[in-house]
Amino acid sequence: MFRIRCVVQSRRLSLLVHPSAVFVPNLMSWYSAAQMHVFRGETFCDVGVGSGLHAILAAKMGARKVFGTDINPVALRFARENARRNGVAGVCTFLHGSLTAPLKSRGIRVDAVVCNAPQFPGKDVQGSLPGRLKASVDGGPSGGELNARFLREAKDVLLLGGRVYNPAVSWANPSATFEAIADSRFRSHELSRRNIPEWGRGNRTREWLLDRPGRHAFRYEHGRGRDSLARICELRQDSLSPVTPPKPIRAEISFHS
Ligand SMILES: C[S@@+](CC[C@H](N)C(=O)[O-])C[C@H]1O[C@@H](n2cnc3c(N)ncnc32)[C@H](O)[C@@H]1O
Repeated sequence: MFRIRCVVQSRRLSLLVHPSAVFVPNLMSWYSAAQMHVFRGETFCDVGVGSGLHAILAAKMGARKVFGTDINPVALRFARENARRNGVAGVCTFLHGSLTAPLKSRGIRVDAVVCNAPQFPGKDVQGSLPGRLKASVDGGPSGGELNARFLREAKDVLLLGGRVYNPAVSWANPSATFEAIADSRFRSHELSRRNIPEWGRGNRTREWLLDRPGRHAFRYEHGRGRDSLARICELRQDSLSPVTPPKPIRAEISFHS
């Protein structure tokens, strides 16, 4: 069991993680958390909540109600505990189920949704990962199928003018993502695009953190290596509302056993 202390968008968070049962936030998690916009009083959903990072951050940014969904019951337990530790349990509800189905079945719609979906091609998912973690990184045969499914379903749980924050990576069949965005009539605005050299296609972030406890600051670099390109997009269906501006990337993390 590890405790991650981090500062994202000037909010201080403390997260307990269980590296063999719950997805450890990776560079894409921090990157998307650093870019998402949450406005005071909004409702928010974190799809595939894992340890609860985006949900808890949304609550700390002033969301009045936050939902998190996951198919991993252990992740939901950790997300609940982390929400309690960060003093936001009162606004967070964590629900078991696939993608947005738990909201849809309850007739819930929200202002904004984030989903850091698994995005590795099934065949690349490491054999040594515990079963629950395989589902955390397996995005389908080409890597992009689960994210595309999420994008097609997301509109059903969005309020008018609602937004989706979607991290997408260059190796996970980007055309599946673009088709799903077009089919859902989302207007896509790229908030940020970076290469993540230490991560790359192998996604060793969990090991990277486990090997190097201590303090980490992000260093993203432009334009090197095609395989590790990551982008964070904001999607909207309402063409009248202005797109929100990108944010400077700042996240600081320390990792303790
Ligand atoms: C890449 S991890 C992201 C976790 C967390 N949001 C983060 O950024 O650190 C993906 C998460 O989605 C969950 N997941 C996988 N398939 C899912 C599905 N069909 N519906 C909901 N959650 C799913 C996994 O259990 C895992 O917690």
